[in-house]
Amino acid sequence: MTSLPFDDRDGDIWLDGVFVPWREARLHVLSHGLHYGGGVFEGERVYDGRVFELTAHSRRLHSSARELGFRIPFDVAELDGATRELVSRLRIRDGYVRPVAWRGSEQLGVSGAGTSVHVAIAAWEWPHVFSAAARNQGITLATSRWRRPSPDTAPVHAKASSLYNICTLARDAAAADGYDDALLLDFRGHLAEATGANLFLVIDGALHTPLADVFLSGITRQTVIALAAELGIAVHERHIDPAELAHADEVFLTGTAYEVQPVRAVDGKPYEVGAVTQSLAEAYTRLVHTPAAYGAKSPTSAAVDESNTS
Ligand SMILES: Cc1ncc(COP(=O)(O)O)c(C=O)c1O
Repeated sequence: MTSLPFDDRDGDIWLDGVFVPWREARLHVLSHGLHYGGGVFEGERVYDGRVFELTAHSRRLHSSARELGFRIPFDVAELDGATRELVSRLRIRDGYVRPVAWRGSEQLGVSGAGTSVHVAIAAWEWPHVFSAAARNQGITLATSRWRRPSPDTAPVHAKASSLYNICTLARDAAAADGYDDALLLDFRGHLAEATGANLFLVIDGALHTPLADVFLSGITRQTVIALAAELGIAVHERHIDPAELAHADEVFLTGTAYEVQPVRAVDGKPYEVGAVTQSLAEAYTRLVHTPAAYGAKSPTSAAVDESNTS
């Protein structure tokens, strides 16, 4: 993993319909999105040169923007095409894609009316969030004092930049106390999610996951629920009281970047990385490396496959 700053790298970024040199992909300081949080984004994962669930992510970028009251000026097929071309150009095999859309600079009143919408897509090599040891042995979580807000307070189903203030505060507080990540409750006090991933508990061999009524129902969450069905593991989506953590045998997180990430302790209570977590993590890894899971063979995979044979 590189530690280069994100505004000083080689390569191209797709910006408003064209590829521009990485360092030139800039926005003006007087952008509405920067001042008032009018931005939405996606996080996508590249495996073997292909973006897993690309169209689902492009669709979610659109629906997030709709929730914030603006329209992405490129349709889902155009976003998919631009992403595939970018990944192919940069010859990324194991990486991450970050599409982002934001309101522009036509005016700086609080109203978003009259602002243009800009879209950028960047991609880079980035195989894993956590170390191999953390992926195998699990990470530690601390319950945060920050909570997921009510749908009357915030656009909770949008992957909106403004909502990530909560995640950044929670994550940094957890890290300052020596934990890997934070566990957030929702405004009612139910278990919600981590700062970039959904939560699953294993109780008596069945999966229990918080009902995603006030936070993102992640694409990985939905994939893992489908995998559990295939493996004959019962899944219960419901409101879960934090006290139920005491009865869980295993805990894990799911997310595009986290994948299926075991948790080895929450607030100091230890959990084993057990058979259910392991079987779902293995099934997820198998799936993301299965070409058939990506539909038609993409230009991306063709370009990377060629480069791989040299
Ligand atoms: C706050 C939050 N919850 C959940 C998720 C998991 O979503 P997905 O599986 O679609 O990546 C993410 C990551 O995008 C996230 O940032």
